[in-house]
Amino acid sequence: MRISVIGCGYLGAVHAASMAKLGHEVVGVDTDATKVEALAQGDAPFFEPDLPELLREQVASGRLSFTTDIADAAGAMVHFVCVGTPQRKNSYAADMTYVDAAVEALVPHLAPGSLVAGKSTVPVGTAHRLAELVTEAQPDAALAWNPEFLREGLAVRDTLHPDRIVYGLPDEGGVSNGVGGDPRRAEALLDEVYATPLAEGVTKLVTDHATAELVKVAANSFLATKISFINAMSEVCEATGADVTALADAIGMDVRIGRKFLNAGLGFGGGCLPKDIRAFMSRAGELGADQALSFLAEVDSINMRRRVRMVDLAREECGGSVVGHRIAVLGAAFKPNSDDVRDSPALNVAAQLQLQGADVVITDPQANGNAAKAWPTLNFAETPEEAAEGAELVLLLTEWQVFRELDPATFGQIVKTRRIIDGRNVLDPVTWRDAGWTYRALGRP
Ligand code: UDX
Repeated sequence: MRISVIGCGYLGAVHAASMAKLGHEVVGVDTDATKVEALAQGDAPFFEPDLPELLREQVASGRLSFTTDIADAAGAMVHFVCVGTPQRKNSYAADMTYVDAAVEALVPHLAPGSLVAGKSTVPVGTAHRLAELVTEAQPDAALAWNPEFLREGLAVRDTLHPDRIVYGLPDEGGVSNGVGGDPRRAEALLDEVYATPLAEGVTKLVTDHATAELVKVAANSFLATKISFINAMSEVCEATGADVTALADAIGMDVRIGRKFLNAGLGFGGGCLPKDIRAFMSRAGELGADQALSFLAEVDSINMRRRVRMVDLAREECGGSVVGHRIAVLGAAFKPNSDDVRDSPALNVAAQLQLQGADVVITDPQANGNAAKAWPTLNFAETPEEAAEGAELVLLLTEWQVFRELDPATFGQIVKTRRIIDGRNVLDPVTWRDAGWTYRALGRP
């Protein structure tokens, strides 16, 4: 099938390459000419495991191409909208400029019988609004919402092996009143896109537009709540001398709770969870349901408090002030296996410490470049060893494997003072203390 993917960021680039892998003929469209040029040559414009190999393979097969010209999407039967919905500058709401612009640019090119499938995370009600635009321009086209749940760092695997597929289809009335198009045709087209092997053994949930939009934000809100719950427990653990990692293991054994997403530490960041819970609160306010989501404000504030706590701990370890202290920061990305620094807790802590007068040297296996663009005054090092030279304090803020595997004895020979704060609770306190380190963590005695 001919498919177009509009927006070639973390979501769209992976989706386009994955759809080509399934055998479809895919054109990726993006307004950023530099990105398109790189992608067209099979180069990934950001770090994502498995993506470079997949891109090169699919571009070479001739099934995958990229363009800045939306008119090149004209022959496609399914158009996936994958553009970003970042937080607006002066409010919690999602900035819908890119989604609106993408759909407006696309509609003149819609073929009769084609489908627009939204993947971006959007405020509930967006699909209905866009459906009107679509059917107005092409009465024989349809619009579905088909949320994506991929995690950065595992994006290729998550796209090719999803744990569920959700279709938000137009109302049955769409056939008669025209809005959103024919749901049966929309479903058949999506089935054709996700034909085996992708859909084999994967549960397909068919619902309406609004529910599909909500599935995504509800899932992200739940995940954020789970992380903030354990981080709230971490604060209580600190107050009592208890160990939050043991607590998480113990409560996580209850299958109703589950151990995943119960890692206490510096909290969540990235381009999704923080802005999604804020946009959800904002949308609920517009709908008169703000009380229902007031707990998300607490989830957000527990999360932001983690960063403050880390800075406070660092100050405490430096004897009350960080001014002039050499601090090595391990990690800049918002999570390991990513070069994404959007709303990164690690980068935020590093920047705060520098603003307070510390001499910060930061290192990340992949995110140094993006971090330097976001916070150019920081000093960057290529390796943890280089960052740690002469350090009086080391902060582990993103749990990359190479940081987890540091040998406390050899690493101890590089630093000035053997003092570490484990912001992700991934090091073994006993091993580090045995090697002469002062080890501190969030929520551990
Ligand atoms: C998230 C959702 O998981 C994904 O389904 C959705 O499509 C997009 O948003 P992502 O932002 O890529 O994906 O990363 P994720 O693995 O969810 O981690 C988010 C943040 O939470 C990271 O900063 C991570 O360090 C933090 N986190 C995660 C914790 O602090 N503790 C945990 O136990 C898990």
